[in-house]
Amino acid sequence: TTPKVVVVGSCMTDLISYTPRLPQPGETLHGHKFSVGFGGKGANQCVAATRLGANAAMVAMVGDDSFGQNYLENFKNNNVDTSFVRVTKEAATGVAPIVVDDTGENCIIIVAGANLKLTSSNVEQAEDVIKDASVLVCQGEITPAATLTALRLARSHEVKTLMNAAPADPFLDAAIIEHSDIFCVNEIEAEVLTKLKVKTRKDAEQAAESLLKRGCKSVIITLGGDGAVYSTAEGHTHIAAETVTPVDTTGAGDAFVGALAYYLAYHSHLAMAEMLQRSCQVATASVLAPGTQTSYPTREQLPSHLFS
Ligand code: RIB
Ligand code: NA
Repeated sequence: TTPKVVVVGSCMTDLISYTPRLPQPGETLHGHKFSVGFGGKGANQCVAATRLGANAAMVAMVGDDSFGQNYLENFKNNNVDTSFVRVTKEAATGVAPIVVDDTGENCIIIVAGANLKLTSSNVEQAEDVIKDASVLVCQGEITPAATLTALRLARSHEVKTLMNAAPADPFLDAAIIEHSDIFCVNEIEAEVLTKLKVKTRKDAEQAAESLLKRGCKSVIITLGGDGAVYSTAEGHTHIAAETVTPVDTTGAGDAFVGALAYYLAYHSHLAMAEMLQRSCQVATASVLAPGTQTSYPTREQLPSHLFS
């Protein structure tokens, strides 16, 4: 069957250290646990969607090394279509050293490596899979040129575009915003893009208005424990999130975006606010377990009303 969700984006091997608190500059800290996991915002979102039952394809680049081989196997284990995941000899598979403290807060460094070798022509080679999809999802961990090619291709085939502009980039290409049907950022990314403070819901609404003026059709600003604000020319809707004590928030934003892609593709009859509400619930489930993809819930682990 045809993938309805296509992600053009990154794969990273997450190297996660669990520490009592985040280190200060120049400080050496004892951590109490280390684990290697599968991450990268693009792959995380793709896997989050397949866990919910989506048929999804990944367009990506890994290095010709053990991390890359393991990643291909991880995709197979998660039923991700890898027809357009390529291997390059020119760079190593992307890595992300991550520190997670006892409150579940994290700091992430990404060394994108092979992800930056995914070219516009690699993306064009995937046109057949993109054109038959319902949703195309992109993030900011591959080159802006490859991202823009993907968004343009999707638009030319009337495929909905969901752009998660993470990590924060103050110089984000204006054309990327213009080609986004849904432009999704967290509070920090919203601040960096708009130069406005985004602390409260009201701030988020103002930032969203400024982003709408830059040409996207709708904006989602995620607010961590305070849920999200969804904005269009018609107005703003706040989506509340359940209050929980997080174990590990790494990749929660990706769980949210991946879930949204799933709902857009498979439950398109739902109102946007309902899709966002359900996506928040999936993200909340992910912060209650350690790791990134390891914490993403399967359909069976979630209440059945999320799938009706
Ligand atoms: O959003 C979380 C992800 O960011 C991690 O998996 C890490 O790989 C970085 O890409
Ligand atoms: Na998690």
